[in-house]
Amino acid sequence: MKITVTEKAKADLIIIPLTENFDIRKFPKSISSYLEEHKESGLFKGKKLSTLEMNGKQNFLFIGLGKEPDDDVMRKASAIAAKHAKKIRADTFAFSLKPYSGFSQPVIEGAILGLYEFTEYKRRKKDDPKDPSEMMLITKEKVDLRTSKIIADGVLLVRDLVNRPASDKPPTKVVEEAKRLGEKYGFSVKSLGKKELEKLGLNSLLAVNRGSDKEPQLCILELNPKSKDKPVALVGKGVTFDAGGLQVKPDKYMNDMKSDMAGAATVLGIITTLARLKSDKHVVGVMGLVENMLGPDAYKPNDILKAYNGKTIEVIHTDAEGRLVLADALSYVDKNYKPKEIIDFATLTGSCLFALGYRVAAVMGNDEALIERIKDSSKSTDELVWQLPLYNHYKEMMKGSITDLRNLHKSPGQYGPGAITAGAFLSEFVHKNTPWAHIDIAGTAFSAERTEYVPEGGTGWGVRLMVDLILDED
Ligand code: BES
Ligand code: ZN
Ligand code: ZN
Repeated sequence: MKITVTEKAKADLIIIPLTENFDIRKFPKSISSYLEEHKESGLFKGKKLSTLEMNGKQNFLFIGLGKEPDDDVMRKASAIAAKHAKKIRADTFAFSLKPYSGFSQPVIEGAILGLYEFTEYKRRKKDDPKDPSEMMLITKEKVDLRTSKIIADGVLLVRDLVNRPASDKPPTKVVEEAKRLGEKYGFSVKSLGKKELEKLGLNSLLAVNRGSDKEPQLCILELNPKSKDKPVALVGKGVTFDAGGLQVKPDKYMNDMKSDMAGAATVLGIITTLARLKSDKHVVGVMGLVENMLGPDAYKPNDILKAYNGKTIEVIHTDAEGRLVLADALSYVDKNYKPKEIIDFATLTGSCLFALGYRVAAVMGNDEALIERIKDSSKSTDELVWQLPLYNHYKEMMKGSITDLRNLHKSPGQYGPGAITAGAFLSEFVHKNTPWAHIDIAGTAFSAERTEYVPEGGTGWGVRLMVDLILDED
């Protein structure tokens, strides 16, 4: 879809967003009387995201913004507008921003994100509705079309990767995709395979992959590698399929486990976006790519692993594999890149999804200032987060009896604080002086709930948030 800026639009559909106290008099008679009629009858009073169609020679869609517009209501209004345009098969639509300023970015994002569908595997039928070919923004403002579009495209890239079936994206395929993007947009990509990982001793990550016939990969992306600044490090869980290992998942729980590489996809999406925006920030991304399967050589409960940082881990549960992958990925980047901070993304625990649902990610870490920055960016992109505490007694729950650590918490009862203790385990793999935050995206990365601009399935959650955070950094 082409996006253009104009002062006076001619389009198949014109979108007029209106706040609750909208002034009817500024419209031509034909529109003002229609609006007045619907305002008086109570059918359209500008309430948040309510809509009113007016069809005729010129089609209009009025969208309520509530009392006052903000970025998120604009993003949602624009998604509703774009989907309406597609539904009525409008080839062009124009979104009026005239009385409002500063909203072009959310409006562009909302339309692109709202129109997204995963179509890679669908046969196109002739009469399927098509995306409109052009969206016009009616405004006198200067608009940075390119930036907004690139950021939205970064989100779509992650959605596509996450939605793709596991058999079509084994670790080496994800690396190929990263290399293709790296070459196209200008960041370096190197990847370590099984032999190299064995030599280096990333045994915790390697153990998870032992039940699989696919080759594991630790893929390292670097934006502006020549920069003298310490890098920001991003680490992602890339379990391309999580069958649970020998302690296999029960049937329903295994569904959607193609999405267990969403953390890695998010890292790739963020770096691709920053590269396309020509950011001069030094950023390193690490994707820990494995498959958690059942096979003759699969790792077993009570196996003992020696991680890259030398700590020993007793495997209590083969389905708590994400933390084993992240453990090595985190200590690898911490040791070899000396980053100024590390942020990891992982579909780590069912516990996070149970606690916070599909629209809120859990954040925890060892540095309040970093977590505050994440919360700030979260407010501006409306990708919601909630902080969980990492008190010392949670760390105690992850101590082993015959090893340094165990991969599942000791709990006096049947249940325990799974999302927090997973985070507590990860904290053992970053140096205490490296600011680090862990974001559990188990609920937000792959949604069963659809909202205005977030579809079911892969959501691309976190790309907009992190691009905002990294671009804001001094
Ligand atoms: N990948 C899952 C977590 C998950 C669950 C993500 C649901 C998205 C939706 C993770 O590897 C896992 O299996 N965690 C288990 C650990 C448990 C067996 C100790 C969990 O949290 O239930
Ligand atoms: Zn698992
Ligand atoms: Zn998993």
